[in-house]
Amino acid sequence: MKTLLLILGITAILGASEGADLFKKCASCHGATGEKHALNKSKIINEMSQEEIVTALKGYKDGSYGGSMKALMKGQVANYDEEQIKTVAAFIAAKKQ
Ligand code: HEC
Repeated sequence: MKTLLLILGITAILGASEGADLFKKCASCHGATGEKHALNKSKIINEMSQEEIVTALKGYKDGSYGGSMKALMKGQVANYDEEQIKTVAAFIAAKKQ
């Protein structure tokens, strides 16, 4: 039982650091906690729910979401698989004030 809890604990910590890693390259535009309008254009993404962020990022990948700068975001998430999109979205949503 203790071992199981330990494993779960480690998984939670790794998950958190992976979210932070996945968000690193995003911070230059969106701010350290997703608190900025990226290039004065995007929504403040830490005010979005995890679900809204996942929808947006998947939409950028398949071209079904976005405004005039959607091509830029497509490049940002092109290499992120579904699991990574969920992880980074959870990380951003958790930054909501
Ligand atoms: C070079 C600057 C830049 C980087 C780096 C960047 N973004 Fe963006 N992001 C933007 C811009 C500009 C928009 C608005 C694009 C549009 O016209 O739809 C946007 C939009 C978004 C949106 C949707 C918000 C809305 O307005 O609907 C999300 C979510 C998002 N970005 C997350 C991310 C994540 C996660 C990363 C890192 C993997 C990232 N961005 C990296 C500039 C950036």
